[in-house]
Amino acid sequence: MKHDAAVLCAMVAAAPFVAASVPAVAAEAARGAEPIEVIRPALVVYPDRVALGKKLFFDPRLSRSGFISCNSCHNLSTGGADNLVTSVGHNWQRGPINSPTVLNSSMSVAQFWDGRAANLREQAGGPIANPGEMASSHELAVEVIASIPGYVEEFTEVFGSPGIDIGRITSAIAAFEETLVTPGSRFDLWLLGDDGALTTQELYGYQLFKSGGCAACHYGPAVGGTSFQKMGIVEEYHTDNPSVGRAAVTGEAIDRFKFKVPTLRNVELTYPYFHDGAAATLEEAVAIMGRLQLGRDYGEQEVADIVAFLKTLTGRQPEILLPVLPPSSNATPRPRPFE
Ligand code: HEC
Ligand code: HEC
Repeated sequence: MKHDAAVLCAMVAAAPFVAASVPAVAAEAARGAEPIEVIRPALVVYPDRVALGKKLFFDPRLSRSGFISCNSCHNLSTGGADNLVTSVGHNWQRGPINSPTVLNSSMSVAQFWDGRAANLREQAGGPIANPGEMASSHELAVEVIASIPGYVEEFTEVFGSPGIDIGRITSAIAAFEETLVTPGSRFDLWLLGDDGALTTQELYGYQLFKSGGCAACHYGPAVGGTSFQKMGIVEEYHTDNPSVGRAAVTGEAIDRFKFKVPTLRNVELTYPYFHDGAAATLEEAVAIMGRLQLGRDYGEQEVADIVAFLKTLTGRQPEILLPVLPPSSNATPRPRPFE
């Protein structure tokens, strides 16, 4: 924890900021010591690639059933998650772990609860071929997409040469995901100098969040996503979920039960909570965090104050116009929803 605090201070000191206006500069400088940083709107470098990635994100033909898209479990109408304890996969299979939000996930050090994918591009190949999720294979997914004339044309335009492979599919999806950021939360308005953006209760909740030690793990622009930490430091966490966390990647006993610290941006929308989805409400999650991570037994009012603060982290949701997908051709492998 001491180590985290040191990293934290270094990060804050080095935090770059681009100011929108002069008063904002002063205010932001004045609040420069805050552990949470403002989210900036996404800078779109390749709009064509983003548009293609958006189609693929919504395209259920990337799944064997022809029914499950990325959006099935990362619903952009509901905070980029599915609001289920664990996800439902191919053939109504019970998923092993809670679906994290895709919103602001570009800001994380790595992807997945155990960080087994280094970045969004590497991550996107996972669910397509995961038998418990979309249950396709990279070969089949490429075959399907390459059989759709509209996609063949679009891939050629976007990448500057003909050819569809899993690398191009996942980089387009990743480019779209990088735009899924949520600036403009009330907390960000406050960070930018708008004193009226938060109520007294919300500000007090934020003070508790900092003084209690929550910010040692939940910090940065995403208010998390920066490190792997043990679930259950002061007190052990009990769960039926078999996930071992980071140890699955490193093989080190010391990493057992360490999970990527989740982002708290939009946390109001992404219930239920924790890797096993066991905490149904934000109140429950906050009380458990206080006890297990910090040895603090928060009273009902303190929990309510922290929850009030957490709800100010809900940002402007990406406004998504549903993409119209190019139709399959006679050669497109047929969906197989019931096998
Ligand atoms: C059947 C449900 C399901 C589908 C379909 C699905 N995901 Fe996921 N996604 C999950 C679950 C569950 C996790 C967490 C898995 C883990 O950490 O082991 C996850 C993790 C992620 C993450 C990591 C987020 C983080 O904070 O670590 C990203 C990004 C992501 N998915 C994007 C996608 C994309 C892109 C697609 C489509 C190609 C997709 N997902 C399809 C359920 C799904
Ligand atoms: C030592 C690091 C650490 C500290 C301190 C800490 N957290 Fe966490 N937090 C985590 C980790 C790790 C998880 C994921 C645990 C899991 O899913 O099993 C988490 C999960 C959460 C979640 C659930 C998010 C989700 O999407 O599932 C909330 C809410 C939360 N923390 C709030 C808090 C609050 C409020 C405090 C202070 C009272 C706090 N945390 C203190 C590491 C920490």
